[in-house]
Amino acid sequence: MAASATVPSTTFLLLLFSLLLGLTSAQLSANFYSKTCPNALSIIQTAVANAVKSEARMGASLLRLHFHDCFVNGCDASILLDDTANFTGEQSAGPNVNSIRGLNVIDNIKTQLEKSCVGVVSCADIVAVAARDSVVALGGPSWNLLLGRRDSTTASQSAANSLPGPGLSLSQLISTFSNKGFSAREMVALSGSHTIGQARCSLFRSRIYNEKNINASFATSLQANCPQSGGDSNLAALDTTTPTSFDNAYFKNLQSQKGLLHSDQQLFNGGSTDSIVNTYSSNPSTFATDFANAMVKMSNLSPLTGTNGQIRKNCRKTN
Ligand code: HEM
Ligand SMILES: *[C@@H]1O[C@H](CO)[C@@H](O)[C@H](O)[C@H]1NC(C)=O
Ligand SMILES: *[C@@H]1O[C@H](CO)[C@@H](O)[C@H](O)[C@H]1NC(C)=O
Repeated sequence: MAASATVPSTTFLLLLFSLLLGLTSAQLSANFYSKTCPNALSIIQTAVANAVKSEARMGASLLRLHFHDCFVNGCDASILLDDTANFTGEQSAGPNVNSIRGLNVIDNIKTQLEKSCVGVVSCADIVAVAARDSVVALGGPSWNLLLGRRDSTTASQSAANSLPGPGLSLSQLISTFSNKGFSAREMVALSGSHTIGQARCSLFRSRIYNEKNINASFATSLQANCPQSGGDSNLAALDTTTPTSFDNAYFKNLQSQKGLLHSDQQLFNGGSTDSIVNTYSSNPSTFATDFANAMVKMSNLSPLTGTNGQIRKNCRKTN
């Protein structure tokens, strides 16, 4: 009978429909804010451009903030949650403490977005877009970001303590990134982020006094501002040649043993990644393309979507 045949097919269609709806709402998408907050991207871009204009290093700091967010349980703005009397978050983890910067820029962007479109744009998306716009502001490549990340209600100090440190060997660097699904080539491309920004003396002191695979005059020049004892937070550029341009000079520096961190020089120290460094050094456009692709991949690490997580009103605390 026709009537009984329509019952299962209607049920089936409803099921299929809700399944499709569930699938689409649970994924990131390119035009996520085009109806709900059409100015979101231009607000972020303008704020980042202004911040980088007043301090070039801020572009580096915003890029690193996204990395340290995504590598700890996904790109969910967990890094932005401030510690409180009864909550210990990621900011006090070893790799972040006295090190991450740019939270005020994110706060300023969030305040502007909440004025335009209340409760719509996540802190996690702001950080992802700000990282991209920072690289562009410093002359690097752009990339197409998917949007719709939501914000965590939790953070993990212990996972943040496992962020890669400057003392890692090549095999440790490869395995740290492999654990997050990245190839050695992608790890080298992402390390090209160190073509901008700065590092503290305490993190490169042993390299400039004790290591052999460093250009001697480069080491000596750094020792003036990074003594054997004291001056722990004195800064040096990660890319000694063009510290505020997002270019491929980082790889050329590695070829002449002018990597600032032990972990940097590990990428060009007679091992399996030397050939990748050579490629990026001689082909800036190959580096730009690989970097952009690897950034898209990093930005898509375990996002909260759909009804998971929340859209924080204030990036520093849960609603
Ligand atoms: C490969 C493993 C990595 C290690 C061991 C590492 C380590 C470091 C260290 C020790 C610093 C200096 C921190 C300080 O002085 O307080 C630093 C700075 C920086 N890192 Fe990395 N990093 C790695 C990968 C990355 C990746 C994948 C990105 C981005 C996608 C990145 C972006 C940056 C930037 C832009 C800075 C400069 C930040 C600023 O000036 O505020 N790093 N990194
Ligand atoms: C943490 O303390 C605040 C007051 O400072 C309180 O409102 C909040 O409920 C506490 N959270 C937890 C998880 O105990
Ligand atoms: C070290 O760097 C200096 C300055 O850039 C350069 O003149 C010198 O040739 C380099 N030394 C070696 C051994 O490559």
